[in-house]
Amino acid sequence: MWRDLLPLGRHSASRGYRRYAWTGADADCRAWFRAQAEARGLAYEVDRNGNQWAWAGDPADGDAVVTGSHLDSVPDGGAFDGPLGVVSAFAALDELRGRGARFGKPLGIVNFGDEEGARFGLACVGSRLTAGRLTVDQARRLTDGDGITLPRAMEAAGYDPDAIGPDPERLDRVGAFVELHVEQGRALDLSGDPVGVASAIWPHGRWRFDFRGEANHAGTTRLTDRRDPMLPYAETVLAARREAGLAGAVATFGKIAVEPNGVNAVPSLVRGWLDSRAADQARLDTVVAGVEKAAREYAAAHGVDLDVVRESFTPVVEFDHVLRDELTRILGTDSDLTVPVLGTGAGHDAGILSGRIPTAMLFVRNPTGVSHSPAESADEDDCVAGVLALADVLEGLACA
Ligand code: GLV
Ligand code: MN
Ligand code: MN
Repeated sequence: MWRDLLPLGRHSASRGYRRYAWTGADADCRAWFRAQAEARGLAYEVDRNGNQWAWAGDPADGDAVVTGSHLDSVPDGGAFDGPLGVVSAFAALDELRGRGARFGKPLGIVNFGDEEGARFGLACVGSRLTAGRLTVDQARRLTDGDGITLPRAMEAAGYDPDAIGPDPERLDRVGAFVELHVEQGRALDLSGDPVGVASAIWPHGRWRFDFRGEANHAGTTRLTDRRDPMLPYAETVLAARREAGLAGAVATFGKIAVEPNGVNAVPSLVRGWLDSRAADQARLDTVVAGVEKAAREYAAAHGVDLDVVRESFTPVVEFDHVLRDELTRILGTDSDLTVPVLGTGAGHDAGILSGRIPTAMLFVRNPTGVSHSPAESADEDDCVAGVLALADVLEGLACA
């Protein structure tokens, strides 16, 4: 599976993945998913929001056990964030069939669309729409950096944008969703465990800061005459680092757009996106309020206007305790693994669905912790341990 998947959407120079929603690379990944489903004789379907499903058994029977993740990537992402969960899902099914397991419940494998939000700015669009946590109107207004709206992008990829919307009947048929994911930190590396179980996802969000000044000549405009939005932006980046450090949180300006973006022009606009996350809501609120207050003071000092817009927000997720305990029980009994339970600052479709259906996550050790980078990695032995753990979990949940 990896051999077929690895070249798809990989940039030749950066060696990172650029698998953005509804692009050619995304279509290639979707074709791969469909081929994997069909090669196993699974019933394949695409839901109204473009998420792909593969079924052993009839989902209409209800109480289905579903596993999977996503295949899209951040700009220059790694090979594992998302695909490890999908590859492991198919591999776990193969393992269970090899064991001669007999399923008492339908077993589904899913690829959720646009998890990273790299193109339209909002993460987990496929699962949010399905769970009714993103309205159709909001989704229709999503626009990429080239001004293409989500409906037009879906249409260009051959999907019907008029069909998008909540899908309660589909979710009502799912009794449990388990997402396996490469760890995006070093907790398992430090504890010396190949596999862990998720406890919670930190609350997190994205805020857009628009600093508007005045375009002018870089050579002839006296420093005192400038209204340069780059200056308050730069000070705001430092404020974000300071506020996050004080609160024990994280804050990142990882994306910036500059107009007119000329070497010899004072910019008219600097637009920066803040991503911030914290263990609890109060800390996150403190960080974002602190960054915004500082940004307003810096902007005023430079004669620059500032607009701050919250583009997305996901509250804290506590994974279902019953399912989590079931996972640790299964893994403790059926395998030799000790299974640490850990929280994460990364967002996931499992988090979006967790308010709606019982969800759980398995993490596979990442020896460097690096993620959202071409350097993201996982050892083959650990990936196999992840597959076997997932197979044990699915067997425990679906074959009981
Ligand atoms: C998704 O990977 C996120 O946490 O941004
Ligand atoms: Mn990611
Ligand atoms: Mn992911």
